[in-house]
Amino acid sequence: MEVKRNILLNPGPATTTDSVKFAQVVPDICPREKEFGLIMEFISKELTNMVASNDKYTTVLFGGSGTASVEAILSSVVDNNDTILIINNGAYGKRMCEIAEIYNLNYIEFKSSPIDAIDFVKLEEIIKHSKKKITHLSVVHHETSTGLLSDIKRIGEICKKYGVEMIVDAMSSFAAIPIDMEEMNIKYLASSANKCIQGMAGISFVISNIDSLEKTKNIKARNLYLNLYKQYDYFKNTYQMRFTPPVQVIYALKQAIIECNNETIEKRYSRYKMCCNILWDGLEKLGLNKLVDEKNHSMLITSVIEPQIKGYSFEKMHKYLYDRGFTIYPGKISLENTFRIANIGEIYPEDMEKFIKLLKEYFNTIV
Ligand SMILES: Cc1ncc(COP(=O)(O)O)c(C=O)c1O
Repeated sequence: MEVKRNILLNPGPATTTDSVKFAQVVPDICPREKEFGLIMEFISKELTNMVASNDKYTTVLFGGSGTASVEAILSSVVDNNDTILIINNGAYGKRMCEIAEIYNLNYIEFKSSPIDAIDFVKLEEIIKHSKKKITHLSVVHHETSTGLLSDIKRIGEICKKYGVEMIVDAMSSFAAIPIDMEEMNIKYLASSANKCIQGMAGISFVISNIDSLEKTKNIKARNLYLNLYKQYDYFKNTYQMRFTPPVQVIYALKQAIIECNNETIEKRYSRYKMCCNILWDGLEKLGLNKLVDEKNHSMLITSVIEPQIKGYSFEKMHKYLYDRGFTIYPGKISLENTFRIANIGEIYPEDMEKFIKLLKEYFNTIV
């Protein structure tokens, strides 16, 4: 069977290989069977391996979109006497504050520019002088709303200095940008199956430092489904999730992990960067400007400032490209009118060249 190949230049779910798509067509199986447990064990250990060692870290899976894993961490690891500092430099940092608010956590919002690097001196000052001891810090590695990449290694050094447990939302950087959780002093990391890992939507996961996670055992649960310790405790003994997993999505994730390991994260990032360079070159030739400076850029998603051309309309441009198999995405920032083009997923330089050609064609229709 042939599946039409669409090129998704939205920031996930990303374009997948046919082998990942077809991996979902499997005989029906009860997820409580040992055979399925072996797949869960493989997935959990391999995901951990991508960023840490299985001796000290473990991966806990949840059925749900990426927000589930972020919410699981925040709602499960910050005790009532703790205080978390949340870096908000975009839509997903803001979302972490919303989660903290809903769960009534003691949190301090550290607002930072959505387009510039974090002021580390200021960050350190706040941690150092806070009246309430900052016990946790959370940050988005790659702000998918803009393409801004934050220096988590540097933040990890500050956290280490002040004994702060660091939480990283690596939703759209995991499996593309190399991360070493131990070296970077990251205690909890959240990501999902459908972005750079190139699997299907429906599985979210938390990679945790086991010692840190064990210490959360007696924190009173604030929810049922998303409790990180309970999910970990059940999983480590059974290789099962507490609640029904998206079975077929798990098979696809297994295949996606195999393909990622075959390619390697470093080479995947190089492929993505090759695509990004073609994109940037094309945008420049079209006179289109990027929102985020190259020095702070992830090279995984580009926010493009909308041009002031008479006749330009995002909806019409989107339709023109969509009708030709390419999906682009609107902006998510109030600072400027932007649209976004991601270059993650199973895409290649020739796809990006074709995209640029179509973008030029679209602009030729309005000038
Ligand atoms: C950095 C970041 N955090 C969290 C999320 C939320 O993920 P989801 O929409 O899958 O719940 C996203 C989604 O794009 C993201 O990019």
